[in-house]
Amino acid sequence: MDKVKRLNIVNSITGIKPGNLIGTISNDNFPNLAIFSSIVHLGSNPALLGFILRPQHKVRRDTYNNILENGSYTVNHLPNHLTKNGHYTSVKFDKNQSEFEYCNFKKYYIDGFKAPFVKESNLSIGMKFMESIPIKANNTVMVVGCVEHVLVNEDALSDEGYIDLEILKSSGISGLNSYYKLTKIDSYPYARISELPDFKK
Ligand SMILES: Cc1cc2nc3c(=O)[nH]c(=O)nc-3n(C[C@H](O)[C@H](O)[C@H](O)COP(=O)(O)O)c2cc1C
Repeated sequence: MDKVKRLNIVNSITGIKPGNLIGTISNDNFPNLAIFSSIVHLGSNPALLGFILRPQHKVRRDTYNNILENGSYTVNHLPNHLTKNGHYTSVKFDKNQSEFEYCNFKKYYIDGFKAPFVKESNLSIGMKFMESIPIKANNTVMVVGCVEHVLVNEDALSDEGYIDLEILKSSGISGLNSYYKLTKIDSYPYARISELPDFKK
């Protein structure tokens, strides 16, 4: 099969991935913002998230370098109306060129936390770096971090703590260049055998 077509298929087969912007800052104060679709929940207690970083020995990786420098980063949901801006944060800008500026995102900081948050995002997470796990099979790294802050638009947060991604207008990603709106279908209770619906009715 054609190499590019094969790559595109493989990038898309897992279905929808979350669209997030990772915000970081270097110790010499250059902020950085980049789109990542591989953020994954690792556990809730302790609250851990991971993401996969592509091989980093050949190209400069500002996000990763900044995380290693000061141990803090933010994960910000990509809002529906800014998918194009978010996409272009993947451009290889120089270290001193801020994606916040070039792609028109506003940054803000909270007390006692080094990395910048994205103002336009309806859900942002302040993360503390924990460990990097090398994946030998393809020279990628899983970056594991601990959730320190969750800043969420309260309209989308239920009393039980559920978060409605449709209200947040968060985006999904397929492959490396297609962006989706998310529509909530329904919510179901914890699945117990004693409450199994009769699906044949
Ligand atoms: C839709 C999309 C999803 C991406 N997801 C990832 C990812 O999960 N991991 C990764 O290492 N790079 C990913 N990238 C590439 C990074 O955004 C790109 O390498 C960026 O330049 C990294 O910025 P930095 O060098 O400032 O860290 C993705 C790019 C796009 C367009």
